[in-house]
Amino acid sequence: MDLPQVKDELVQFNKMIFLYNSAMKEFKLRLEILRDEYKFVHQYDPVFDVKSRIKSIDSITAKLTKQGKAITVENIENYVDDIAGIRVCCHYSTDIYRLVDMISEQKDIEVLNSKDYMNDPKPNGYRSYHMILTIPVHLSGRVVSVKVEVQIRTTALNSWAILEDILENTYDDYLPEELLKEVKECADMLHAVDKRMIRIQDEISQYKKERQ
Ligand code: GTP
Ligand code: MG
Repeated sequence: MDLPQVKDELVQFNKMIFLYNSAMKEFKLRLEILRDEYKFVHQYDPVFDVKSRIKSIDSITAKLTKQGKAITVENIENYVDDIAGIRVCCHYSTDIYRLVDMISEQKDIEVLNSKDYMNDPKPNGYRSYHMILTIPVHLSGRVVSVKVEVQIRTTALNSWAILEDILENTYDDYLPEELLKEVKECADMLHAVDKRMIRIQDEISQYKKERQ
C-alpha cells in the first residue's frame, strides 16, 4: 500500500468506528427506554448493569489473522461481528428471555444470529444469551444498518465469566483437566443458585398474594 492508500484506509477505519459507536449509543438508548417502560408497568428493573465496548485493534487483528484474512476495513466489516459489544446483566435468568423478546420485537432491529448458551451451556459451563443484530443509525441523508453483539446473562454467571476469562489468560488457553472440571462445577453451582432464587422469589410473590 502506498501512502495515499494507507491514509484512505485510515479514514475508512475511523468512519467505521464512528458508525459502530453510534450503533452502540442507539442500542443503549433503546434498552434504557425498555427498562423505563418495564419499571413503569411492573415497578421493577430487570437489568442490573450494562457495559459496552468497542473491540480493541489488537483483538480485531487477532480475530482476522485467525481466520486467515487480510487486515482491511472491508474484512473487519464482513468477518468481525463483535466490533460493537454490549453486555447486559440481569438479576434473574427469566429476565433474560423477556429482554430478548423485547429487543427482537423491535421492527427495525434485525437479529442475524442468536446463541442460547443459557439453555445449552458450553462444555466449560459458560451460560449467556448472545445475539448479533443490526440496528439502524440515522445520519444526515442516509440510514445505515450496523452490527452489534449483545450478550445477556445473570450477574452471578457474569462474575463467573469474568473470573474464567482471567483463568484462561493466566493459563494461556490451557487448563488442566481436573481444574476445568472444577471451573464447570462453579458455573453449575451459580446456575443452581440463580434457579433457587427465582423459586424463592415466586414463593414470596405467592405468599404476598395469599395474604392480600
Ligand atoms: P468469539 O470468536 O470469541 O467472538 O466467539 P464466537 O464467534 O464463537 O462466538 P460466541 O458467541 O461463542 O462468543 C462470543 C463472546 O462471548 C466471546 O468473545 C466472549 O466475550 C464470550 N464468551 C464466549 N464463550 C465464553 C467462555 O467460555 N468464557 C467466557 N468468559 N466468555 C465467553
Ligand atoms: Mg468476541
